Amino acid sequence: MASNKIPIIAGQGGQIPAVGYGTMLFPDAESAVELITHSLNCGYRHIDTARKYGSEKWVGEAIRTNRVPREDIWITTKVTEENANADDFARSVEISLKTLDVTYVDLLLIHWPQPNVPLEETLGALAKSKREGLAKNIGVSNFTVSLLDEAINKCPEPIFTNQIEYHAYIRQNKILTACFRHNLLVTCHVPLARGALLSDPVISKIAKLYDRTPAQIALKWLVQQPGVVVVPRALEVRHIEENINIFDFELGEKEMGQISELQSNNLRVVNPPERSPEWDKE
Ligand SMILES: NC(=O)c1ccc[n+]([C@@H]2O[C@H](COP(=O)([O-])OP(=O)(O)OC[C@H]3O[C@@H](n4cnc5c(N)ncnc54)[C@H](OP(=O)(O)O)[C@@H]3O)[C@@H](O)[C@H]2O)c1
Repeated sequence: MASNKIPIIAGQGGQIPAVGYGTMLFPDAESAVELITHSLNCGYRHIDTARKYGSEKWVGEAIRTNRVPREDIWITTKVTEENANADDFARSVEISLKTLDVTYVDLLLIHWPQPNVPLEETLGALAKSKREGLAKNIGVSNFTVSLLDEAINKCPEPIFTNQIEYHAYIRQNKILTACFRHNLLVTCHVPLARGALLSDPVISKIAKLYDRTPAQIALKWLVQQPGVVVVPRALEVRHIEENINIFDFELGEKEMGQISELQSNNLRVVNPPERSPEWDKE
């Protein structure tokens, strides 16, 4: 295996490993705990979970039974939009901590915007979790430019990140610019476009040139951009290992540019009609 030392990225208030293990979908409990454990054993120190995924208990079990100390692992979890009002939000955080079997998470996110509850109320509950020490850092997910501007104005505590869909097949210039204007890190969910870009001829050609896999090239294109963190998910052990072994090479300017051109595909993979806000038009 090549180097698996994952760089740490500094944001407002915290320092997050540039690659995390996404835990959205597992076939069963046993393989979930095994795979999360494997991710820790091969060097991951950042796990991305959510109450909605049902994976918090497996993340908790893997961490509890692993030799890596809890304080060395960055845990992100999320509160769903069904729990956006202050009381439900607080209850959801309590359940997440209990399920994870931890006293705090490193990052707590509003999973999706909720148009039926005033954003100020949800942000107040989010900030309260931080002030009570239940979350070291707080943030949002799937927020557009206008929602993010509003959140920055109304949140009583600094926002650490906006977790958004970002990969080589989608143009996200407007929201990226807004995140960086507010000094936020960008966390990319579905960084491999759920596999859609892995057979792309441009990415495959660059992969051959660098003697890497297409997934490694697609992830490297993201983490080589300043302030960008990725949380790929993989069920195959080989993929889990590959996805962190991307820090012993750099893509050239030419290849970075060639991959950027693929953004004209404008493929949005995560777009649930019942939850999605009106996305920024690029
Ligand atoms: N905030 C949000 O609303 C939100 C939404 C969606 C996702 N997320 C987060 O983002 C994480 C990642 O998203 P995702 O799982 O939907 O999509 P993804 O990471 O873009 O893609 C996962 C797919 O890529 C494949 N893959 C992974 N590494 C590979 C490699 N090295 N070579 C070849 N194929 C590889 C996986 O195959 P195998 O499983 O066969 O290895 C799987 O089919 C989630 O787990 C979750 O934590 C957040």
